[in-house]
Amino acid sequence: MTHVLTVIGARPQFIKASPVSRALRAQGLQETVVHTGQHYDASMSQVFFDELGMDPPQVHLDIGSGTHGDQTGRMLAAIERTILASHPDVVLVYGDTNSTLAGALAAAKLRVPIAHVEAGLRSWNRAMPEEINRIVADAVSDLLFAPTLVAVENLTQEGRPADAIVRTGDVMFDAALQHSSAADARSTILASLALTKGRYLLATVHRAENTDDPERLRVILGALGDLSRRHVVVLPLHPRTRTHIHANDELLALLGDTQVIPPVGYLDMIALERSAALIVTDSGGVQKEAYFHGVPCVTLRNETEWTELIALGWNRLCPPDRVERVVAAAEAAVGTLGLQGSPYGDGNASALIAQSLASRF
Ligand code: UD1
Ligand code: UDP
Repeated sequence: MTHVLTVIGARPQFIKASPVSRALRAQGLQETVVHTGQHYDASMSQVFFDELGMDPPQVHLDIGSGTHGDQTGRMLAAIERTILASHPDVVLVYGDTNSTLAGALAAAKLRVPIAHVEAGLRSWNRAMPEEINRIVADAVSDLLFAPTLVAVENLTQEGRPADAIVRTGDVMFDAALQHSSAADARSTILASLALTKGRYLLATVHRAENTDDPERLRVILGALGDLSRRHVVVLPLHPRTRTHIHANDELLALLGDTQVIPPVGYLDMIALERSAALIVTDSGGVQKEAYFHGVPCVTLRNETEWTELIALGWNRLCPPDRVERVVAAAEAAVGTLGLQGSPYGDGNASALIAQSLASRF
């Protein structure tokens, strides 16, 4: 029986791994889940295991936060020990976080095969820590699970052989399909925040290029504050952004009447996304979920890896360099619809991943 060692550690990775773990079980594969501890607040970690019906991770490394080198280095050493103790046939990594990088490097040095979910994405901006992580993870991976055609093309242009690349579709689409009805049935967040369907904007902000640049952060918060004078604006706040805002009362004041709430679980997030008039975000996952749930999106970045949604008209980029620009982009996007398409597969990405792993290793 193929033994898969899964390395996850950050919020979006719990969500991505949930449908894949289910598919691995259905395919009869053995899985050991290693949680690096990169995200550790209950609202950034435990809530997803509880809500998505995931087994607790077999191994918890408790690495916590740190500078990139310190955090990644401690993960690398701990994952190496875990691989040596558990003898997997393949190490499975997700996305582009420091947990992805550490998992891929640890396996590569031990010459254990690596499979990368969300391979081939590129922003072409090496100032992003995620871009370095995904380039390195792809470079050392043996099996590249590409979510989109663009991702396949990027890998092909980098000289990766066709038999190392599997176009699977996006596991986040699988997750959205699997959990939307539970969100409808179980989430009470709209009622508890007194929100009306189609009558509020949902925002998330956490990307380092926005939170760690005081001017960009000021523009984003100022724009949300401006929008909150005419719209209900809800902002589930990532701890990275919370740290920056709470260090500075002036920043908090910029948010105006924005309803700032703690990070929410996945079911509440789906419920908030599905009923929003508009989503304003710098998140990779939330950009796609806006499309899955048929909601227009403004992305507060200079570029995106998910270019299909720009082409289809569901998403538009707005670099947060001026408050008026962000406000105008948001106002213009409310009420718009994009074109039909199916850039993220048929909702069976997880099954394709499990089948590939079973047949290759
Ligand atoms: C990480 C990923 C990013 C991903 C995001 C998903 C890297 C380099 N970045 O960014 O690609 O989009 O996760 O959410 O891996 N913190 C807490 N509690 C927690 C976790 C973090 O308070 O449970 C705070 C700490 O102050 C920490 C900061 O958030 O220093 C940043 O956390 P970190 O995991 O380093 O990066 P993210 O910004 O979360
Ligand atoms: N998410 C969530 N609660 C929140 C904010 C986001 O459950 O308060 C989910 C969201 O629905 C998506 C994922 O977290 O599935 C995206 O993670 P994040 O924005 O942290 O990271 P990124 O996708 O940018 O790497």
